[in-house]
Amino acid sequence: MSEEVTYADLNFQDSGRKKSIQEFGTVGIKEPAATSHVWHQRALALILLCLLLLIGLGILGSVFYITLKKEMRTLNTLQNIKEELQRNVSLQLMHSMNSSQMIRNLSLTLQEIATKLCHELYQREPEHKCKPCPKKWIWHEDNCYLVTKNYVTWQKNAMFCSAQNASLLMIKNKSVLEFVKSRNLRKYWLGLSPRKYYADYKIVDETIFSSDWLVRNTKDVDDTMFCGYINTIYVSYTLCSDSNNIICEKLANPVKIENTLMSEIPDEKYD
Ligand SMILES: *[C@@H]1O[C@H](CO)[C@@H](O)[C@H](O)[C@H]1NC(C)=O
Ligand SMILES: *[C@@H]1O[C@H](CO)[C@@H](O)[C@H](O)[C@H]1NC(C)=O
Ligand SMILES: *[C@@H]1O[C@H](CO)[C@@H](O)[C@H](O)[C@H]1NC(C)=O
Ligand SMILES: *[C@@H]1O[C@H](CO)[C@@H](O)[C@H](O)[C@H]1NC(C)=O
Ligand SMILES: *[C@@H]1O[C@H](CO)[C@@H](O)[C@H](O)[C@H]1NC(C)=O
Repeated sequence: MSEEVTYADLNFQDSGRKKSIQEFGTVGIKEPAATSHVWHQRALALILLCLLLLIGLGILGSVFYITLKKEMRTLNTLQNIKEELQRNVSLQLMHSMNSSQMIRNLSLTLQEIATKLCHELYQREPEHKCKPCPKKWIWHEDNCYLVTKNYVTWQKNAMFCSAQNASLLMIKNKSVLEFVKSRNLRKYWLGLSPRKYYADYKIVDETIFSSDWLVRNTKDVDDTMFCGYINTIYVSYTLCSDSNNIICEKLANPVKIENTLMSEIPDEKYD
């Protein structure tokens, strides 16, 4: 019985296996159709994906292209603005250069006017504040002159002038010659180079400009040398150890505009 059961079981088991085998076989035969369907779907999905990707790429490309175009336009605009700015800046630079030139011209003109005005004021009041020379000095054109009645040796005159940051009188141009003629100077030392030998007197005229004028005040002058002096309209020589009057000259300072604009009234109050 047990054997039978076992057989039956076996049989049953066998038939079950057969069935399963059969089922398996059915599946095996059925399979190719199902797979192609899945592949179809997958391929479709892939194609779709590819299409989507392509569309995406296209959109990205066009976005990129549009952006690039826009950026290029912006760049161009910026370039144009930059060029315009450069043009404007250089124009402004030229303008300000013109302006500073004009300011320079104006201040030069103002300085000239102030100097002229100061000359006028100086005629009326020789010690007016605007005068660009120290007190007691005479102002003539670009120069200041100190004319004193002190008889000293030529060397003492030279030393005195040095101490005043000035030099002996040298008649090198028309301006100084005019001053000399206007002052009728009686026996004043001149800044001529001392000579070993005596020289005759000469009338003061423009030929004096090319005389042997000092380059600087000399110290090595001995008592046997001859020095030049002016006596009214003549230039003469005498021993350097002789005595003549002191005269010095130096360059006038520029006229200070504010001093010219100041009225004379405050000065009169102090006087
Ligand atoms: C350049 O100057 C002109 C005229 O002065 C002005 O209209 C323009 O806006 C300026 N350009 C720039 C970029 O400042
Ligand atoms: C600068 O001045 C000159 C002449 O003095 C003139 O021709 C030029 O136009 C001026 N430039 C400016 C930017 O004002
Ligand atoms: C400044 O003066 C000079 C010479 O006097 C002249 O050549 C120049 O044009 C002037 N400039 C201006 C901006 O007035
Ligand atoms: C001479 O010049 C010097 C230096 O420039 C200055 O210190 C001195 O005060 C001046 N002397 C006179 C009398 O002007
Ligand atoms: C004349 O010469 C003096 C120096 O001796 C100088 O200071 C002055 O500037 C000169 N004047 C002219 C108009 O050249």
